[in-house]
Amino acid sequence: MSKIFQSVKGTKDILPDETPRWRVLEQTVHDFMNRWGYKEIRTPVFEQTDLFVRSVGKDSDVVSKQMYTFLDHGKTSLTLKPELTAPVIRAYIQYNIALSGGVTKLYYIDSLFRQERPQKGRLRQFQQFGIEAIGSPHPEQDAEVITAAYRLLQELGIRTMTLKLNNIGNKSSRVRYRDVLIEFLSDHLDRLSKTSQERIKTNPLRILDTKNPEEQTILEKAPHILDFLDEDDRKHYDEVLTYLDQLGVPYEQDHQLVRGLDYYTRTTFEIISPKLGAQDALCGGGRYDDLVEDLGGKPTPAIGFAAGIERILLAMDEKNMDSLEPAPRIYLAAASESARSTIFKLGIDLRNAGLFVDFDILYRSLKSQLREANRLNCVSAIIIGEDELIEGVAQVKDLQSGEQTPVDLDTIADYFLP
Ligand code: HAM
Repeated sequence: MSKIFQSVKGTKDILPDETPRWRVLEQTVHDFMNRWGYKEIRTPVFEQTDLFVRSVGKDSDVVSKQMYTFLDHGKTSLTLKPELTAPVIRAYIQYNIALSGGVTKLYYIDSLFRQERPQKGRLRQFQQFGIEAIGSPHPEQDAEVITAAYRLLQELGIRTMTLKLNNIGNKSSRVRYRDVLIEFLSDHLDRLSKTSQERIKTNPLRILDTKNPEEQTILEKAPHILDFLDEDDRKHYDEVLTYLDQLGVPYEQDHQLVRGLDYYTRTTFEIISPKLGAQDALCGGGRYDDLVEDLGGKPTPAIGFAAGIERILLAMDEKNMDSLEPAPRIYLAAASESARSTIFKLGIDLRNAGLFVDFDILYRSLKSQLREANRLNCVSAIIIGEDELIEGVAQVKDLQSGEQTPVDLDTIADYFLP
């Protein structure tokens, strides 16, 4: 027997009964972004590996453990994109997308690839939508992006969620904090996991979002990053909080929210859902004021977020997604062998005229054709047999009432079109 193939571990087929929910979600995102003034960008599936090493950071989990990397013709190292901020900034610099003096507001809906251990809400190929607002250093921009994430999730039918917010300062305040944190953690070295002991050397701030209960207890007494912010960072943070208060967006301050990607500066945030298990982040983002310059562009502040679509679909209110109205369908049924070719041609003609039409190509009996019409929830059937062919008409049957009306074959499209 030949081998039956399965989809690869951590990947998911989106089957026909699920695609309507995806389409409603995607359309809601497109409409929302249009209203908020964001323009869509699409980037290639793979990029030079170095782009991610230099932006996301070589010690981050994404770069050190999760990338799908391969050699092109045995020479250039390429990587399937594990995230979209770096590719979008690469394109922003490459095509000089910067509007003269304005803020460039971009959004995307796309597939990403990370070699993670698959579990509920965690896949190896997953989809995100997200935005990048490039050009403004001001707290209003942070508040706009965070509010966009929150309101869009609400529009998608997420009822319960928590927005977590932090400010991790600029590079130099982070260096100061890092030293103090290392000193604090060194006193508890024997109680830290192997991973955290490694991370002290590579990326100590990441230890702050450990899920290990013992480490969490230790960290309760750890110094707070907020105490190491300089005056400008502190002012920026306070103003972001004030704007969110004014906009009615509820948040929780979480001084341990450092995020796993290295490009962040100042504001970081996540929105989590109690409906998900361990992988509870619906969305994550923050400011990355140094990234454009680090990737070779002019110094340009920026902030963005990305949200995981599979997780949103798990967390959202089911009812909300039934709004894709099925188009009223018409079924063409042949009541005699001789009518089959007329039915076939008429079916295609009616589709060309803009109608939603199905017909039989299995040469089934009239009875089973009408059964099929009911299965497909068709509203009407057009039935043609010997007599109708001779008279140049079709019987239009209302499948609800059973009522039947003869209609001229020449005018049948007009009969159905509004
Ligand atoms: P991230 O936190 O790595 O951020 O991912 C954002 C969201 O993508 C997560 O909150 C989660 O919902 C979803 N996600 C991440 N990994 C997986 C996975 N393996 N399976 C399913 N869903 C997943 C970023 O990607 C940043 N680029 C966000 C950003 C944009 N920051 C600034 N601008």
